[in-house]
Amino acid sequence: MCGIVGCTSRTGEVVPGLVESLKRLEYRGYDSSGIAAIGERGLGIVRRVGKIRELESELAVAPLTGSTAIGHTRWATHGSPTEANAHPHRVGKLVVVHNGIIENYLELREELTQRGARFQSETDTEVVAHLVQALWQGDLVAAVRSAVKRLHGSFALALLHEDAPDLIVAARRDSPLVIGVGEGAHWLASDVPALLPWTRRIIYLEDGDVAALRPERVDVTDAEGVARARAVAEITWSAEMAEKAGFPHFMLKEIHEQPATVSNALLGRIAENSGAIVLDGFALSDAELRSLRRICIVACGTSWHAGQVGRFLLEEDAGIPVEVDYASEMIHREPLLAKDDLLIAISQSGETADTRAALKKGREAGARTLVITNVAGSSMARDAAHVLLTYAGPEIGVASTKAFMGQLTVLALLALRLGAARGRLDQKTLARRLHELKTLPHALEQALALSDAAKDIAGELAAARDALYLGRGLNYPIALEGALKLKEISYIHAEGYPAGEMKHGPIALIDPSMPVIAIATESVTSALMSGNVEEARARGARVIGIVSTGEERLMKSCWRTLVVPRVPEALSPFVNIIPLQLLAYWTAVIRGSDVDQPRNLAKTVTVQ
Ligand code: M6R
Repeated sequence: MCGIVGCTSRTGEVVPGLVESLKRLEYRGYDSSGIAAIGERGLGIVRRVGKIRELESELAVAPLTGSTAIGHTRWATHGSPTEANAHPHRVGKLVVVHNGIIENYLELREELTQRGARFQSETDTEVVAHLVQALWQGDLVAAVRSAVKRLHGSFALALLHEDAPDLIVAARRDSPLVIGVGEGAHWLASDVPALLPWTRRIIYLEDGDVAALRPERVDVTDAEGVARARAVAEITWSAEMAEKAGFPHFMLKEIHEQPATVSNALLGRIAENSGAIVLDGFALSDAELRSLRRICIVACGTSWHAGQVGRFLLEEDAGIPVEVDYASEMIHREPLLAKDDLLIAISQSGETADTRAALKKGREAGARTLVITNVAGSSMARDAAHVLLTYAGPEIGVASTKAFMGQLTVLALLALRLGAARGRLDQKTLARRLHELKTLPHALEQALALSDAAKDIAGELAAARDALYLGRGLNYPIALEGALKLKEISYIHAEGYPAGEMKHGPIALIDPSMPVIAIATESVTSALMSGNVEEARARGARVIGIVSTGEERLMKSCWRTLVVPRVPEALSPFVNIIPLQLLAYWTAVIRGSDVDQPRNLAKTVTVQ
């Protein structure tokens, strides 16, 4: 997804710092980049297709200088990744960078063309530059305020004008944008990690905000010019936390952070004396929780898989019916939601366009709304009535790992909280279940010790063309998630299937070239799963079994095994996903793929 950066400073040269900030947005995925700066020689622009190192090479031969600048990484939506389509887009003395999609760009393009505008690119963004130019009467802030009223769709915008050399104007609607506050300098970015080397004092802009950044001050108004008060938040993540801490890839670092992820998500949420669950941000009373009729979970990708695990936990512990929908599907039908339904949106970023739209739909239908997210100031965190943070820290690898673990932990706590309030769990059971959750990080540490064994198996898996992942019950979503991890980063086709469905079709695919990854840890369905392993083996499959300690019989049936510690079945998804993440990671490394930024994928998908 595209990334925006900007800086205006009293003390001079800002371009090298902005290049550094752009690098910190690389995880969002991009195909071209660019910078525009206003210096002593006026407005200059450099744009390049490809990685930021291409931009740096160009800047080395044709340096760009200035104390006010904006930059961008583009992930193509309208028009292919070319230099002409890369941002910033220039019209006269004005430049613009943009994230999101201008839905009425064709009408605007037509109108502006009739008024004499000449377009240089295929992008929707360029209409913004021409529109602001057409409305400009010597005041960039006023022109942007008028322009945003004409735009349909989503946008985060940053603009410079050569006649206002110490000013950046920014605006947002349905696309994130944050301001970094410093001494004699202000920064702008689409995500906090880009600003961490420079400041930890952050203002989260909200939908409809138009901000004017100058070295000494920031003014935020709405499109009518009415002042909007925005608080400055102190970010506790260090710049180092957002870096790799000695691991070769962010993904491996994040996989290894998962024991801490569980501890952090539990921190302060279990009262020391009473053992009660305290979910700050989820303020429904016991009576309100008892009156809930149904829960609907909406999410995309990995977060949707967390929702599927959540369904098992919530139905089992709280005795409440749960539906799990792909957000992108739910928004195109009329969900039967009412005030005694709870809509839970799960999103690492809190910005995914489909999930946000589904949340809005639930809110409009009158349902109670809760978002489970990793990003405190995100759009969804502001849209929902209730918010539970996962506290996983910034997740940089595009393939989600620790955020998933944080989501599972919060869902487990939520299920227990509802179970207690609805009288399904007595005090003793609740205390035992919480104790099991608290000791889970130790089991995760043990599962992480499988890294070398997973690397060894990955040596074989890397040569496969397809792979089949099988699981049952709570571990069916883990089969889906394991398959998603493999395909995302190694580009091997992989499918997750409920093991019981194997004989209803996929078994026809099985031959000696097809690895079958069977999640066969201790469970009420263990006997059935053993049968599935035998069926696959009988057809020549090389079965890689995820099995619990002490299961010698299964170990003999599998081609290779990854042995995980025994945990209660409700917690098996937490443990079982770790070897699958490691298997996908090492397979991708062996195949030489770009693990942290897999092709065609974006970390934050802010378009539908
Ligand atoms: O930020 P979100 O959790 O809303 O993102 C949802 C999906 O885009 C995301 O989980 C995606 O599937 C990841 N690449 C999975 O690794």
